[in-house]
Amino acid sequence: MHLPSDFLWGVATAAYQIEGAVDEDGRSPSIWDTFGQIPGAIANGDTGDVACDHYHRWPEDLRLIRDLGVDAYRFSIAWPRVIPTGVGAVNPAGIGFYDRLVDELLAAGVRPFVTLYHWDLPQVLQDKGGWPARDTAQAFADYAAVVASALGDRVTDWCTINEPLCVAWIGHLEGRMAPGLTDLRSAVDASHHVLLGHGLATQAIKAASATSNVGIVLNLSPVDPATDSEADAAAAVRADGHTNRWWLDPLHGRGYPRDMVDLYRMEPPVLDGDLETIATPTDYLGVNYYFRGVVADDPEGPVPHARQVETLPGARYTAMDWEIYPAGLQRILTRVTEDYGPPKIYVTEQGSAWPDVVDADGGIEDKDRIDYLEQHLEAIDAAVADGVPLAGYFVWSLLDNLEWAYGYEKRFGLVHVDYATQQRTMKASGRRYAEIVRDFRASRG
Ligand code: FCB
Repeated sequence: MHLPSDFLWGVATAAYQIEGAVDEDGRSPSIWDTFGQIPGAIANGDTGDVACDHYHRWPEDLRLIRDLGVDAYRFSIAWPRVIPTGVGAVNPAGIGFYDRLVDELLAAGVRPFVTLYHWDLPQVLQDKGGWPARDTAQAFADYAAVVASALGDRVTDWCTINEPLCVAWIGHLEGRMAPGLTDLRSAVDASHHVLLGHGLATQAIKAASATSNVGIVLNLSPVDPATDSEADAAAAVRADGHTNRWWLDPLHGRGYPRDMVDLYRMEPPVLDGDLETIATPTDYLGVNYYFRGVVADDPEGPVPHARQVETLPGARYTAMDWEIYPAGLQRILTRVTEDYGPPKIYVTEQGSAWPDVVDADGGIEDKDRIDYLEQHLEAIDAAVADGVPLAGYFVWSLLDNLEWAYGYEKRFGLVHVDYATQQRTMKASGRRYAEIVRDFRASRG
């Protein structure tokens, strides 16, 4: 293995996907609570009302993290718990929940990686315009400052925004995620304000806590053309711009890619100084990787006029119908390193959903998830051999949980959750991951 000896192994979750307790201790509704009320928005009428009941069962979940033996736990903080009115008064019970979690993680020797925004915008801020409104960027930075001053004496690792692509493009253009809009102008405005919020929050966290390591988490995909036609090659360039360059370029001080501004036929709402704020230096880049793009030209379709080809001959797919393509992880990590040179990279999410079967004796022998994990670990090892400054890897996810619009049916956990009883059961993949982490430590002495 080429991984450095201080490589971090972790697992990841997000607040809305696991916590439940949506109206306890002063939490206000988030845009996902609202979205879940729209008939058909979330599969099977599922909601986050109870989820994994982690809000009450977190000590048990912490024991599972200890059983896995990982170094780090990436979780997100629910803004509507901490500042129920979006801006203004802090809710002591809300921040208190995370305060206790952080203390217990540290007591267990697990390093907390805190994500500030994993998609649960307070609905009150959506009512004032949400991410398409510029004020939301400042509201986010103010909330980040509150959390950083409360936890920054113990937490060193911070992620500002999780997957701006999903926030802007899927939430405001494709409408498959909250707030469920399908409007390019709103989506482009949201993309800019999410990035601006990231830059402002980075500065706020650094001001509140001098020892902080701050980064943003992007979901990136290498993109291949479906055929060797010129039209498909051009579609792949556009899809790459939409998926990768639209975020990476401004974050690295290059502004928005001109070809994409031309394609969208609109400028993002950039004011003086915004591009400098967005490019505020960070300590690492978080990369989430799930699949590659394979696209065909689609002139009549929505921007970027590139249609994802759903079935490739010979390819294998997970329960999400996502192609299993570990080489894509190596490719995207190498490309980001060569083109943008971030000081450090973490793979902040990586994992797979399968139709898990509970055996007669209650066990889950999820061999597909184990194979998937092992293949992607080979890919990160190869990336490090290529010179990628990779410092850690987080499996998505600790627990089966609410897979957003797909509901509870899609299971990503290393730990199985029986939603009727809330019983947790370590899957074979969880045991395998624990073994990989143990073996790595043993090999490094
Ligand atoms: C990512 C999300 C995460 C989870 C995985 C499967 O896009 O960040 O919350 O849903 O996909």
